[in-house]
Amino acid sequence: MAQAPGESHDHQADKPVLAVLHGQRLDPPPVWMMRQAGRYLPEYRALRADRGSFLNLVYDSDAAAEITLQPLRRFAELDAAILFSDILIVPFAMGQNLTFIAGEGPRLTPPLSHAALDQLTPFPARLEPIYATVAKVKAQLDPSRTLLGFAGSPWTVATYMVAGQGSREQAETRLFSYRDSGPMSALIDRIVTITIEYLAGQIEAGADAVQLFDSWSGSLAPKEFERWVIAPTAAIVAALGASHPGVPIIGFPKGAGGKLGAYARETGIDAIGLDETVDPVWADRELPAGMPVQGNLDPLLLLAGTDDLEHGVGDILRALSGRPHIFNLGHGISKETPIAHVERLMALVKGQQ
Ligand code: CP3
Repeated sequence: MAQAPGESHDHQADKPVLAVLHGQRLDPPPVWMMRQAGRYLPEYRALRADRGSFLNLVYDSDAAAEITLQPLRRFAELDAAILFSDILIVPFAMGQNLTFIAGEGPRLTPPLSHAALDQLTPFPARLEPIYATVAKVKAQLDPSRTLLGFAGSPWTVATYMVAGQGSREQAETRLFSYRDSGPMSALIDRIVTITIEYLAGQIEAGADAVQLFDSWSGSLAPKEFERWVIAPTAAIVAALGASHPGVPIIGFPKGAGGKLGAYARETGIDAIGLDETVDPVWADRELPAGMPVQGNLDPLLLLAGTDDLEHGVGDILRALSGRPHIFNLGHGISKETPIAHVERLMALVKGQQ
């Protein structure tokens, strides 16, 4: 779509994802995929091989903007772009060193299980190039497509900061907070503060809406869920609602299961992402009427690409047809997923098959 000079296309009516986030129902629903920019795309792998490391790509805002746009060039049906970056940029800006070890995953040093938060020297400038990426994407993005910013939720980010890496059942961090909730509370407060600033920066650079990824919210007992997931999320939502009213915030409390209703009611979040373990029929009954929902096809069903894909997509579309719905996967797309399977998914969601 060409944009005439001086013409503003920022109105939500032009952007299906934004319209749904504001409570509209659309048939067919808009669609995007978590981790849509990444390793299943040959064009991503080529750029990644050329530039060496993931962090080199994130900190080269031209490359990061290009990667953000790659899936939208390939799949005309995608209705949103999500900033290419990572949730661990926040601990990096808080002063931990960040590396990605091939085949093993991220490492943050020193881990806060062994070092105090006050020993870290913050580097707020490490957030600046991310805002530059957002602005560069916005300048090139078709006005019908929504630009999503994101951050990790405080609990999920804290699990990496305390353990220094991904951890089984987030045991170190749960134990850390049970033994002495003081340092954990200070850490969560610090992450809340920087996350508010970071998301505000992304919105000011051009993000139309933002998503909070809480990948590990499923490991918490109910009281800890209230304290480390609901309360900090509510603080972020309240602060952004005051400073940037009208910009929707999507919460994705992966694994929250039976605690989804409390999360939806108590955080003030505008929309909620469902992982693939949630029955969308149950979610439709459990969640507040009219609240927009995003999800929730199993990324492994997409990878398998069997005939069940059609049924899986149909079940989700039917279950959520009575409320505002953005079609998505229940978690990030797997890096082995064939492009042809994604093409089939797009056609199924948009009713061309
Ligand atoms: O959705 C998107 O396309 C936006 C970009 C995005 C990435 N990571 C890019 C990325 C987003 C939103 C994330 C979120 C993220 N990062 C989460 C929360 C969501 C989830 O998936 O549960 C978490 C827990 C992380 C931390 C992280 N970053 C891990 C565990 C890894 C994998 C490490 C590895 O070695 O495989 C990353 C790296 C990462 N983040 C890649 C991408 C495309 C792979 C980089 C590469 O090797 O090329």
